[in-house]
Amino acid sequence: MDVFHKAALLTARIKVLRESGKTVGFVPTMGALHEGHLSLVRTCKQQNDFAVASIFVNPTQFNDANDLRRYPRMPEKDREMLESAGCDLLFMPEEKEVYPEPDTRRFDFGGLDSHMEGKHRPGHFNGVAQVVTRLFDIVCPHKAYFGLKDFQQLAIIKKITADLHYPVEIVSCPIVRESDGLAMSSRNRLLSEEERKQALILSESLFLAKKMKDRHTPQEIRKFVSDRLKAVAGVELEYFEIISGTSLLPVHTWGDKEEIIGCIAARVGKIRLIDNINFSL
Ligand code: PAF
Repeated sequence: MDVFHKAALLTARIKVLRESGKTVGFVPTMGALHEGHLSLVRTCKQQNDFAVASIFVNPTQFNDANDLRRYPRMPEKDREMLESAGCDLLFMPEEKEVYPEPDTRRFDFGGLDSHMEGKHRPGHFNGVAQVVTRLFDIVCPHKAYFGLKDFQQLAIIKKITADLHYPVEIVSCPIVRESDGLAMSSRNRLLSEEERKQALILSESLFLAKKMKDRHTPQEIRKFVSDRLKAVAGVELEYFEIISGTSLLPVHTWGDKEEIIGCIAARVGKIRLIDNINFSL
């Protein structure tokens, strides 16, 4: 695996690969890698001649300075894991390589950001759009791979990729869970032993909610999940929404025409976790 710190060198290398007819897949990450990221890299490698990954903790997507400071960083371990998952090229830039000038662009997500993460983390998706478009400009991939755990992020990335006419296919990859059901996340490693147990309330509530679907309305299930989380000391629910997978707006009936997703965000101690479940599968 070749490691690049300079954007121009990576761009030049990928240009040569593309000109020789090779396909290039890309997995952007913020590091602190886990099996979920590695599954993206493996899928990327299966579907392309070359797999490129990036590790960059993007400051513009953090609306909370403490969250940015606390975000886990373990670059050496990450490098080893990427290499063993089959990554060919790794981009590990300094901030000035990604943002030579401060990025003042403002994106319009057509309302996809009006609920959930967009509402609770103002500016977060604008920062994600800034970094993803900058990385696409540098890497020029044929395909890019994102996990469904960040369901709203994925919908927003698909929209900006289409709106800005990037010739990049966005590939959605399934949520990877621990054996007890907790969705894998870089933030899980920040949980204490006690919090790690409490965190299970998120995935367990989603699995129960899905089982209730045939007998209950979305409104009843919202109340059930919200009451369930409120009953646990140390866990603070930020939202549980049952939304259309297309508009990302809350639904009031199940219908049968569109994909329906249950999305949850909660703080366990100081650590903010998200998860979701597809009610339509
Ligand atoms: O999902 C993430 O890890 C980040 O939001 C991403 C897409 C790598 C952009 O920094």
